[in-house]
Amino acid sequence: MDLNGKVAVVTGGGRGLGLAYAKALAAAGAAVVVNDLDAEAAAGAVEEIGAAGGRAVAEVGAVGTAETAEALVARAVDAFGRLDAMVTNAGVLRDRVLWKMSDEDFDTVVRVHLRGTFTCVRAAVARMREQGGGGRVIVAGSPAGQRGNFGQTNYAAAKAGIAAMVRTWAMELAKAGITANAVIPVAATAMTRTIPAFAPHVDALERHGTPLPDALRKGEGFGTPEDVASLVVYLASDAAAAVTGQCVGIGGDKLALWSHPQEVSVAYADGGWSADAIAAAWPVTVGRVPETYGIPAPRI
Ligand SMILES: NC(=O)c1ccc[n+]([C@@H]2O[C@H](COP(=O)([O-])OP(=O)(O)OC[C@H]3O[C@@H](n4cnc5c(N)ncnc54)[C@H](O)[C@@H]3O)[C@@H](O)[C@H]2O)c1
Repeated sequence: MDLNGKVAVVTGGGRGLGLAYAKALAAAGAAVVVNDLDAEAAAGAVEEIGAAGGRAVAEVGAVGTAETAEALVARAVDAFGRLDAMVTNAGVLRDRVLWKMSDEDFDTVVRVHLRGTFTCVRAAVARMREQGGGGRVIVAGSPAGQRGNFGQTNYAAAKAGIAAMVRTWAMELAKAGITANAVIPVAATAMTRTIPAFAPHVDALERHGTPLPDALRKGEGFGTPEDVASLVVYLASDAAAAVTGQCVGIGGDKLALWSHPQEVSVAYADGGWSADAIAAAWPVTVGRVPETYGIPAPRI
């Protein structure tokens, strides 16, 4: 993959998946603006990329506001002259069951993920449209947003909203040659290393370099941030010019296309449905095979 001449912004690029994205994009030849709210992490990423022969600058700030979004785009243009790819990856968790979730827990997660994605992509697209020649919008979804997840009202809502925005943007941006896709990652990072079934394997990988077992890499589609970064490089490349409006899953050895919601079963009643008619028809028509929900528990 050759991304020479292209310029990318990666939000939350100081650690975890974002760091792997920034390094992989730079290794493929792109110049990268590394955003993070942690200045030290952003500077460390820039140093690492530079030491490997890549080009990167840091832009510290908390995504979620129009000001930060505009600063990121301005930094790309000032430092490298253009913007070709906006990768919105920054994220936080505030897990609580619904009845214990505070307004602040909800608003924080929605601000960083949903509003952060909206504001950064809006600013990026304004620049890409003005520049001409298309562009790439690559956003971060999650299995939790696709399926729902216990304790993640805020996060599931934000991630489902991000998938919905991608479907909308694919329509709105097609004419300008800008693609919009969501990466649905699963990887060992600060966010996931505490999952009990995965923790000892992540620990062994980090301490002793013990490769993750097949049961994880294939069975659970769970691997390293570097595994996920390949998809971001592909989506940023010219090879993916025709790929848009998709939610693409990746983790470990697994690559997957997620379905979009659609009607799976329909029934009709002349003149419309009464509640009694729905009650009678439900078990034998549209309600006969209900949809499943939730992320399946790890099998290892
Ligand atoms: N790790 C996984 O398996 C997984 C699964 C599904 C989705 N995701 C998504 O991938 C993205 C990255 O996750 P990760 O596991 O690498 O997390 P991480 O916690 O390891 O890294 C997140 C980074 O974002 C930064 N950040 C947080 N809030 C920010 C803000 N407001 N502005 C700028 N930077 C901010 C943090 O400082 C950190 O460097 C997130 O959007 C997450 O929801 C991860």
